[in-house]
Formats: sequence, structure tokens, C-alpha cells
Amino acid sequence: MKQATTITVKTAATDPFSVKTDLLAVGVFEDQITSFGRALDKKLKGSIEKICKLGDFKGQRKQSVLLYTDGKIGAKRLLLVGLGEKEKSEIDVVRNAAALSAKRAVDLKAAAVAVSIHQDLDKRKFNYEILSRAITEGIFFGGYRYDEFLNTADYGRPAKLTATIVDSNPAHIRLLEQGARIGRIFGEARSFARTIMNRPANLVSPNVLADVARTLARQLPGLSCSVWDDKQIRAKKMGGILAVGQGSNNKPRFIVLKYNPSKATKSTPTIGLIGKAITFDTGGISIKPSEGMQDMKFDKSGGVAVLGAMRAIARLKPKVRVLGIIPSAENMPGGGSYRPGDIVTTYSGKTVEIQNTDAEGRMILCDAIHYAVQEKCDFMVDIATLTGACVVALGEGMAGLMSNNDLQVEQIKAAAQASGDRVWHLPCGEEYLELMKSKIAELKNIGGKWGGACTAAAFLGAFAGECKWAHIDMAGVGMVDGEKQGGCPGSIGYGVSLLAEYVWNHARK
Ligand code: BES
Ligand code: ZN
Ligand code: ZN
Repeated sequence: MKQATTITVKTAATDPFSVKTDLLAVGVFEDQITSFGRALDKKLKGSIEKICKLGDFKGQRKQSVLLYTDGKIGAKRLLLVGLGEKEKSEIDVVRNAAALSAKRAVDLKAAAVAVSIHQDLDKRKFNYEILSRAITEGIFFGGYRYDEFLNTADYGRPAKLTATIVDSNPAHIRLLEQGARIGRIFGEARSFARTIMNRPANLVSPNVLADVARTLARQLPGLSCSVWDDKQIRAKKMGGILAVGQGSNNKPRFIVLKYNPSKATKSTPTIGLIGKAITFDTGGISIKPSEGMQDMKFDKSGGVAVLGAMRAIARLKPKVRVLGIIPSAENMPGGGSYRPGDIVTTYSGKTVEIQNTDAEGRMILCDAIHYAVQEKCDFMVDIATLTGACVVALGEGMAGLMSNNDLQVEQIKAAAQASGDRVWHLPCGEEYLELMKSKIAELKNIGGKWGGACTAAAFLGAFAGECKWAHIDMAGVGMVDGEKQGGCPGSIGYGVSLLAEYVWNHARK
């Protein structure tokens, strides 16, 4: 396997017009020409105006146009990137415009890109640090490719992309650099997670995932890792994880990453981040149809999002304790598989009647949630590619958010707004839990025909007890099959920034 493109983001006090680079990316509004744009057009002898008059480029979001500069400015090529209407600009617009710039740079096989899209945005709305963080995250996102199994002859992308956020005023650099520092932490963690999410199930088993976690802990100060194998899982009576994992030759693992801040006191809160890591979900005995089954390699994405978030958290160094809890198993049909009709005693002692082996995510998460309760987490958030029903409800743009605590809903919504990982609040109360009650055990693992995302969440909530708990159903947002969002097909690394931002916000209060 070869290394993914190494992306470096720098900041420099340089005049965008004279910077020597393969590509200069400049933001353009839909509804107004700024003084910067006018000056640039003058240098280019009216080329921008000509393109706009022809109607080839209007400055709309997701739009871009490439111009060859013929030595009129320092850059070999100029990329105009649409920012939409100025009044409606949000931080996501900036992040996406930067992502598009990096995507185009990689497509052009450019090794160096200068980015100047923060220039004309409203600095009362976004300061230089926030802008620079979003641009940096966007560059990492758009420059990412999953091509570790393509050889260079097939593909030919450069091994390295250096992006420089340029600003002619040296007084802006301190804040721009500060933002880039944070952006690198989030961007690198997200790319790291994307690669592991994208790797297929023959390469990423629960055991391999545990090795990835151990390596992370070895590399990052403040982080430690413990792993239980199937024998320890059995000894601890984690019946849910054991049941799901028993049909596969790749045995389950229970992975815990611990982040401890340097000056923790008794009152330092502990946050539990719990992620579903089914390395492949065939459905088990309740087997899925073969069409589209290959996408079930992404069923580990919640767990990997937690891995990525822990990587970012260890570098952000917030003053909270964090437990990254990753139950991992492979859901396979076989002679040893758990079956519909089985009654499973979970780690909490609650019994569950299995009515569908494809509803396996909740069976591994319920044990992990009980573990977080035992570890006395003050807050916990679980994240999982849990239900097709959530995709039916919300589509592919937003994850479902369910919780037993209104304040936590607000905190996760705020983290979603800042990180670009979007969520929509859905219910999971008593009326849904009612539908999860079994006649022969305390609970059953599927509800009725309707509201599948809400009944699944209600099931999980039953294991959180009194603890402040939130659940993110990311089934619809884990991956893209086209080239949406300025990225490449496959995982978009959903959840890494959301979870890291949520934890970071807790510590900043
Ligand atoms: N991993 C799937 C959910 C999923 C579906 C993720 C589509 C991504 C895209 C989960 O384990 C599952 O199979 N859920 C079942 C639950 C049902 C049996 C109650 C589902 O949603 O069909
Ligand atoms: Zn399933
Ligand atoms: Zn699943």
C-alpha cells in the first residue's frame, strides 16, 4: 500500500497577485464584485469580466472556472471559486470552496496551490482564525484521495500537495496561522479516519482496528489504549458483542482509548465517545440482499470516527477526560452465528430477544454504553451507521440526533454547525421504547415497521440509564458514491470533526 497524498497547509504574508505557484484559488461572490476582484481583473486585462459576461461563471456555490494567466500574475493558473451571495455566507461555504480548490489542484496534478478565498468575507461575521481553520480543513478534505491500491502509472497524482493561505497584510498572519494549526489537527484526523473507513473488510478486521488504536496511543502523548479479545469479552459477559461476533472467524474486540489531560482533578468531567465498528455487515443469518452489500465495509465508520476524534483530541489537549469506546465485530452467517429467536444476556444484565440478526449494531453498542455507565462518564455520545430507516427519514445530507438531554442536543447542534457535520434532531422517547419490548425477554432487537431510527435509538437509550446520553445515526452520511462535496467517492470521514468539536467545546467553557 502506498501512502496517501501528503497535504501540507502553510500561511504566508504574500501578495496573491505576485505569488509564484501552479494555481491560485480566489473566492468570488455571486452578487458583487469586490475591490480585490476588480484589481485582479485589471491585471488579467478583463478576462474575468469576459467570462462572467459569457455566462460561464456566475460566482455561485460549487462553481469554479480555470483561467490561464499567461504571466500576467505570478500564478500559472487562476481558479475562480464561487462563494454565492455575500450576505448568506456561512463557514461551510468557505470550507467547501477551499475543498473545491484543493480538489481541482489535485486533478490538475499541481504540487503547489495558493489559496486566497478569505479576502472579501465579512470579518465581523468570521475572524481570520475561523476562516483559516475552515480553509485548512477544506484543503485537507478536497485534496484527499483514496488511491492506496492504484499505482502511479494508472493515476499519476502528485505525492505531495502544498497549499499556502496567502494574505498581503502581515498583520493578519498570526490569526491565520492560529486557525491553520487547528485546521491541520481536524483535517489530518479526518483524512486518517477516511482511509481506515475506506479500507475493505479483508484488510480491516476487529483485530486490525485494535492495532490501529494501539498505534495511535503509542504515537500520541496523553492517550492510552486497552483491548479485550473474545476470551476477555466472554469473561466480562458482554453478551451482545459476543453474539454478533460469534459467526465470524475474525473474532470481536472491545477497544478503549483513554485521553487524560495533564492536570486532571477530581472534578474534571469524563466524556464517553462510543462508536459502532462492524467491520463488515452481511446481516448474518437474516442476510442482506447482495446488491450494494459491498458498502457494508463502511459499517465500521462510527467506531473509526471515534478513533479519528481521539487523534484530534489528543492534539487539541482539552481539559476533560475522554474515553473512546469502540466495540468491534464482523457480522457473518455461519455455523456459529447467532440466530433469530436467540435470547442474549447483555453486559448490563438486560435480556434481548433477537428477531433480526441484521439489527446487530445496537447489540454491540448496548454493551459499550453500559461500559460507559460503569466508568461513570458524565456525558456520552454514541455514533453509528445504525439504520436504513434514518436514511429514509433524512437522506444523505444529515445524520439523526437523538438524546435524553436537551442541553446535550444544543451542544451537539452547535458542534455540528461549527464542524460542517450536520445533524437533525429526532425523537426517541417512551412511545418508541414501548415498541422494543419483548414478550419473552426484557427487550427485542427490532421494533415495528415504522420509525426504525427512533426505535433503535430508544433501545440504546434504555442502556444509558440516568447518564446524559446522545446518539448519532450516521447511516446516510457515512459515504458518497459519486464525487459529491468536492471529495472523492467513499468515506467522507463524517463524525470526526463533530465529536472532536463537541469535546473541545466542553473544555472551553
Ligand atoms: N448497518 C446497517 C444499517 C445501514 C443501512 C447502514 C444502510 C448504512 C446504510 C444496520 O446494521 C442494519 O442492517 N439495520 C437494519 C435494521 C433492521 C433489521 C431493524 C436496517 O436498517 O435495515
Ligand atoms: Zn445490520
Ligand atoms: Zn450494521
